[in-house]
Amino acid sequence: MLGLVFGSGFENFELVDCRTQRVSTPFGETEYDLGVFADQEIVVLHRHGKDHRFAPHQIPSRAQMWAMKEAGVTDIIAVGSVGGMSAENAPGHFTVPDQIVDYTAGRECTYWGEAGMPCAHIDFTRPFDENLRQKILQAAQDIKLYVHNKGTYACTQGPRLETAAEVRRMIMDGCDLVGMTAMPEAALARELGMRYALICFSVNWAAGLVDDALDFEAIKASMNHSVSTLVKLLTQVAQTNDFR
Ligand code: HPA
Repeated sequence: MLGLVFGSGFENFELVDCRTQRVSTPFGETEYDLGVFADQEIVVLHRHGKDHRFAPHQIPSRAQMWAMKEAGVTDIIAVGSVGGMSAENAPGHFTVPDQIVDYTAGRECTYWGEAGMPCAHIDFTRPFDENLRQKILQAAQDIKLYVHNKGTYACTQGPRLETAAEVRRMIMDGCDLVGMTAMPEAALARELGMRYALICFSVNWAAGLVDDALDFEAIKASMNHSVSTLVKLLTQVAQTNDFR
């Protein structure tokens, strides 16, 4: 089954025949929606909570990924807004990244050794599922949407935005886009054996790349156009693939 993980901007996303499930996991309570999208039953999870309760460092990713696995999700397409750090990632552009550098600290980042989970050192050479990435890229081609087919996602701790020097360092590290939420989510999905890919939409130039100070509330207010384009892309992915 397909699972979608949404961040900021998708608060008004609607499923047909939507049922909200509140579930208890060994890592706390969480909730997700079950419903119909593009003629198939899917799971939708709002990682910040529907009321945007969780700042990036507070997202209960272990409970969320566990709940998706228990719901029967096999394939996760996550969506995240990012700051652009390379020409391909100017505001308004879309990217399906192929790599991650994890700059987060102190997040609960593994199931290892808890809830009866074995000691497993997952392979994370390629943090995103390549097949699922290709399905998204094909769907983008089908609807003639230009999407960059690779990029290195820098995951910062947040919730504050970066300093100009941090952005310079991440660029030197080879990163192209910066967000706060794909880790540990992507690794936890891998630990549970779910395929995971991410679609990023750039909403600003990262700190220091333009003169202006960043106003995240203003940035959020301008997300609507990208969000409706992404819903079209997700519809095409769901319509042209069978997830099981
Ligand atoms: N930095 C971190 N996360 C973000 C940004 C940013 O500039 N823009 C959107 N999410």
